[in-house]
Amino acid sequence: MKKVSILGMALLLLGASGLFAFDVAELAKRSDKGFKPVVVKDWKAPDESTIPNNLFGETVRYGKALVHETYKYIGPEVADAKMRYAGNNLACSSCHQDAGTKRWSAPFMATFGTFPQYRNRDENIGSIEERVNGCMNRSMNGKSLPENGKEMRAIVTYMYWLAQGIPVGAKVEGAEFPQVNRKMVMSQAADPIKGEKVYKEHCASCHGENGEGVKREGKANGYEFPPLWGKDTYNTGAGMYRVLRAADWIVANMPLGADNHNRILTDEQAYNVAAYINNYDKPRDVKANREKDFPDLSMKVPDSDVGPYDDNKTRHQHKFGPYKGIIIPAK
Ligand code: HEC
Ligand code: HEC
Repeated sequence: MKKVSILGMALLLLGASGLFAFDVAELAKRSDKGFKPVVVKDWKAPDESTIPNNLFGETVRYGKALVHETYKYIGPEVADAKMRYAGNNLACSSCHQDAGTKRWSAPFMATFGTFPQYRNRDENIGSIEERVNGCMNRSMNGKSLPENGKEMRAIVTYMYWLAQGIPVGAKVEGAEFPQVNRKMVMSQAADPIKGEKVYKEHCASCHGENGEGVKREGKANGYEFPPLWGKDTYNTGAGMYRVLRAADWIVANMPLGADNHNRILTDEQAYNVAAYINNYDKPRDVKANREKDFPDLSMKVPDSDVGPYDDNKTRHQHKFGPYKGIIIPAK
């Protein structure tokens, strides 16, 4: 109670000054676990031939299949209507590439050991199951998997298996997001018009002129190349819908074949194409109640395009930058 009223007073006094812009150092403070994480440099995916032939092993394999071919088991086209948890025909692997084993592509090897963790979206200590369901509701545009159901257990068991040998809380190289140049994003807005040129040159050959992707034949078989906008992809609540998040992922992972150490796009191209694919003229499903995300506005992600904000910047500037006055970088 006390904390709330002090914060309330501070907001009253300082609200209009922009002092509460997204503060990277404050986020680090809140995420602090009070111990120094071990650093793991040379992570390699564990050998699948070591998965045992027992109930545990079957569960790991089912978890991997769910991550890699999500559409086949819990997608909107599966025969059993009760199993249609995902609202689109993407796979977790569409973004967490190679079933969550590709470094710098939002991989899962460090995931098991970093939960429970501080979550700014709901100002809470979140569990790994809640985090999976975050992507189910947003990236997969669907509904939550039951936390004790077979599918959730399998996904978490797969993540546990991937994390073998990694100490609790460890920082694994390649598990964090790569970042497009933050000096650039502070001073320059992402430009969807320049992004369109990048798209035509580097993306449209696979993802299509209209972002529709290339679907495989038959029901519940997913996509050869997944859609980037339209009905059958991530909704407006997803991390990939945010321009900075998308740029950070795209720069190190797209076009297909790129990785963090063999980049194809420049930072600027990734930033602009992220703005193009997520621009307002590109239809996609809307996640309801986004204004209730991030109840503590000082922890709100900088590139959310839905208010309220506690700086005096517009919705447009939050979406496309420049981010000066919106992000307070770590010193
Ligand atoms: C459209 C892209 C996309 C798809 C599809 C997707 N995710 Fe994610 N996921 C992300 C992004 C981006 C992040 C991290 C950024 C963030 O926090 O917003 C993330 C983060 C996560 C995290 C947190 C990882 C960590 O170590 O902190 C988990 C767990 C996760 N996703 C699970 C899943 C699962 C399981 C599926 C499939 C059911 C899935 N995601 C599908 C984009 C996606
Ligand atoms: C050679 C084909 C190819 C090209 C070119 C390509 N992609 Fe992709 N893209 C893929 C595939 C395949 C996936 C799914 C991930 C996987 O299978 O590894 C994907 C996934 C994605 C995703 C996440 C999933 C989704 O549907 O939202 C985004 C975003 C994306 N690509 C953006 C881009 C952008 C931007 C470019 C151009 C700079 C690009 N891609 C160029 C093949 C391609």
